[in-house]
Amino acid sequence: MKKTIYITRKLPGDIIDKLSSQFHVKMWHEENVPVPREVLLKEIEEVDGLICLLTEKIDVEVLNQAKQLQVISNIAVGYNNIDIQASTERGIVVTNTPGVLTETTADLTFALLMASARRVVEGSEYLRSGEWGAWSLMQMTGQDIYGATLGIIGLGRIGEALVKRAQGFDMNILYHNRTRKRETEEKLGIHYREMKDLLQQSDFVCLLLPYSPEVHHLIGKEELSLMKKEAILINTARGGIVDEEALYHSLKNGEIWGAGLDVFEQEPVPTDHPLLTLPNVVTLPHIGSASVKTRMKMAHLAADNMLGVLTGSEALTPVILNK
Ligand code: GLV
Repeated sequence: MKKTIYITRKLPGDIIDKLSSQFHVKMWHEENVPVPREVLLKEIEEVDGLICLLTEKIDVEVLNQAKQLQVISNIAVGYNNIDIQASTERGIVVTNTPGVLTETTADLTFALLMASARRVVEGSEYLRSGEWGAWSLMQMTGQDIYGATLGIIGLGRIGEALVKRAQGFDMNILYHNRTRKRETEEKLGIHYREMKDLLQQSDFVCLLLPYSPEVHHLIGKEELSLMKKEAILINTARGGIVDEEALYHSLKNGEIWGAGLDVFEQEPVPTDHPLLTLPNVVTLPHIGSASVKTRMKMAHLAADNMLGVLTGSEALTPVILNK
């Protein structure tokens, strides 16, 4: 008998075709609206596999409902939406989509850095508002990218891909990572710094580390106060890494110069969020990996992971529990 899988969002046809050839596929019918929690809690009961997005919280309550779940395939590289410990204890394999989104996410991170430094969004709005009276010397002046110091917190695949982009701009590149990577330092010509030194020395601080409770509000009032007055904070990782209230005050009071944010503690970010009132913040709706090709690659990889586990071979990219 065919195994049954549930997909928490409507996916493109060729992904469904690929999965339907092997499984009985059930799917939430909306493309842009997440599956309601009560629907997920019901659907999970009888399925062997779950393909989900980062909008679904797969916690103990969901896992306890599942009678025969063998695999959870997340269409994202980050998996902080899934309780990995509880899944592993129940013998459920969890997979994610690393690798395929590296370059696309590094592109967006650098785009956000450039847009923030050169006031691209603010400038466009200024022009359209009709306020642009005349060209003047110090109008819409921003910060230089070329030759500036970039501090990367979290040097994984995306961090390394960002280094390549920054090198094209002759940037001086610093990084901080939980474990120091001496070989990578040598290979890429970048420099390790303790967190405090990185924050003090960088013109741009880019957050590219995975979220876990240990890094909740890693960047708060104290950390922001260490940064230069001209510095810009870029977050394309997860919203919870930054204390948004502290960031708001720091930006409002001119303690740092700007921020580029693709991620927020609550998503979608409420439209009355204080950060959205500031002209020196560039905001995006969590689109780091959002190119047509990359999103398709992510969906295919998630499908292949599902096929791997449920047809008895192996998951291509399993998440390994960090002890
Ligand atoms: C997106 O944020 C991802 O983790 O893939």
